[in-house]
Amino acid sequence: MRVADLLPRELERFEREHPRSRELASRASGSLLSGVPMPWMIRWPGAFPVFAAEAEGARFRDVDGHEYVDFCLGDTAAMTGHSPEPTARALAEQARRGITLMLPSEDAIWVGEELARRFGLPRWQFALTATDANRFAIRLARELTKRPKILVFNWCYHGTVDETFATLENGSVTSREGNVGAPVPLAETTRVVEWNDAEALERELSHGDVACVLAEPALTNIGIVLAEPGFHETMRRLTREAGTLLIIDETHTLCCGPGGYTKAEGLEPDLMTIGKAIAGGIPVGAYGMTDEVAARVLEKTVWEAADVGGVGGTLAGNALSLAAVRATLGEVLTDEAFARMIALGERFAAGCDEVIAEFELPWQATRLGCRVEYMFSPTPFRNGGEAYAAFDTPLDALLHLYMLNRGVLMTPFHMMALMSPATTEADVDAHTASLREFAGELTG
Ligand SMILES: Cc1ncc(COP(=O)(O)O)c(C=O)c1O
Repeated sequence: MRVADLLPRELERFEREHPRSRELASRASGSLLSGVPMPWMIRWPGAFPVFAAEAEGARFRDVDGHEYVDFCLGDTAAMTGHSPEPTARALAEQARRGITLMLPSEDAIWVGEELARRFGLPRWQFALTATDANRFAIRLARELTKRPKILVFNWCYHGTVDETFATLENGSVTSREGNVGAPVPLAETTRVVEWNDAEALERELSHGDVACVLAEPALTNIGIVLAEPGFHETMRRLTREAGTLLIIDETHTLCCGPGGYTKAEGLEPDLMTIGKAIAGGIPVGAYGMTDEVAARVLEKTVWEAADVGGVGGTLAGNALSLAAVRATLGEVLTDEAFARMIALGERFAAGCDEVIAEFELPWQATRLGCRVEYMFSPTPFRNGGEAYAAFDTPLDALLHLYMLNRGVLMTPFHMMALMSPATTEADVDAHTASLREFAGELTG
C-alpha cells in the first residue's frame, strides 16, 4: 500500500475515534488563534489536535478516554515522565511558601552546585527558558568579545532566538523559511556552516567577527545528526584560536546522561545552556560558564544598570522553579534513572533496526543516549542540509497519525522518541509492534 492510500483511512479513523477532541477544537477556534494556544500545535497530523485530559509518568489520556504511551514527552520538557512525584511534591510545598521574590532562595545554591558537579562548569545563572538562556549567553559573548556575529550550524534549532533562524542557500546565509518578522537581515548577525564541516568552520571564523559558536553537541532538531570523530576537538581548537567563545546547548542532549553530552564526551565549552527537563517541565533555563568567562563577565558588568542590561528577567531564578529543579535533579533524573532510560533507548533502537531489516525499508535509526530517531534514508546524515533534503513530509505525517491511532505519541515533525524514568520495556515494545504493523501495510 502507498502513503496516499493509507492516509485517508487513518484520517477517517482518527476523526471517528476523537469526537470530544473535535468538539473542543471547534470551540477553541472561537477564542484561540487557529484554535490552538501556541502556533506549533497546529502541526500535529489530523484535522484537529488531540486534547489532553491528564498525564502521569510515560502515559497520558485524551478527552475521548484513549490512553497513549508518550515518547514525545513534551519534546523533552517532560523527559522526567509527566508530573514526577518528587517534583510535584516540591512544587506544592514551595507554592505555599512563596513563589517569586526577587531574592535568592537556598535552593539556588543547591542547584548551582549540582549543575557545576554534573556539567563541570563552575558558575551558573538562571532564566525562564532554554531560549532565554541562549539569548543571554549570546549577549555575554558579544559583550566580552566586542564582536557582532554568532555562528550556528545549518538547520539548527536553539529556541526562538532571532540570530539562529539562518540557513545556507547556495552557500549564502538566508532567513530560515517561516521566520516571522525577522528584525534584521540574518547575514548581518549570523554565519552558518554545515555540521561536521571543519574547513567551512575555519573559514568563517577567520573573519574575526564571530563572538560565539552556538552548537548542540549533536543536532537533534533536524533528525539526529551525530558529530563525526574528531569534530568536537577541531571545533574547540578552532574557536580557541579565533578568540571565539564556544556555547554548547545541552537542552536536548541531556538525554546522553546526568551531565549531558558535555560530561559524557568530555567537552570543554566556555558556556553551556540548558532548560526544558531540568525542572520536570516547570519553566526554567540555566547557563553556566567557566571561571575565566565569569571573571570577564564580572569585570564588564555595569552594576548600577544590571537590571536593564538585557540579561535576566523578573521571574528568572524564582523560588518555585528552583525548588522544582532541586527535586528533579536530586530525585528524578538520577544516575540510576539514566542507566535505565539509556537501556530502553537501546531496546527502542534495536526494535526499529529489526523492523527496518525485516521489511527492507530504506531507513535507519540513530540513537543518542535515551533518544532515538528513525529517518527515511538508508544511511545516517552528515549534516543538517542533507537531513533537511531527505525529509518526507507525507510519510512523516502518516506515520505520526498511524502511531497516534494505535496509542503511541511520537515527537512531532520528525520520528523521534525519548525514554523517561517511567517508560517500560512494554511501552517500547508497543511502539515496535505498531512500527511492524505499519511496515507490513506500507510494503504489502
Ligand atoms: C536544542 C534546543 N535549545 C533550546 C530550545 C528552546 O527551548 P524552549 O522552547 O523551551 O525555550 C530548544 C527547543 O526545542 C532546543 O531544541
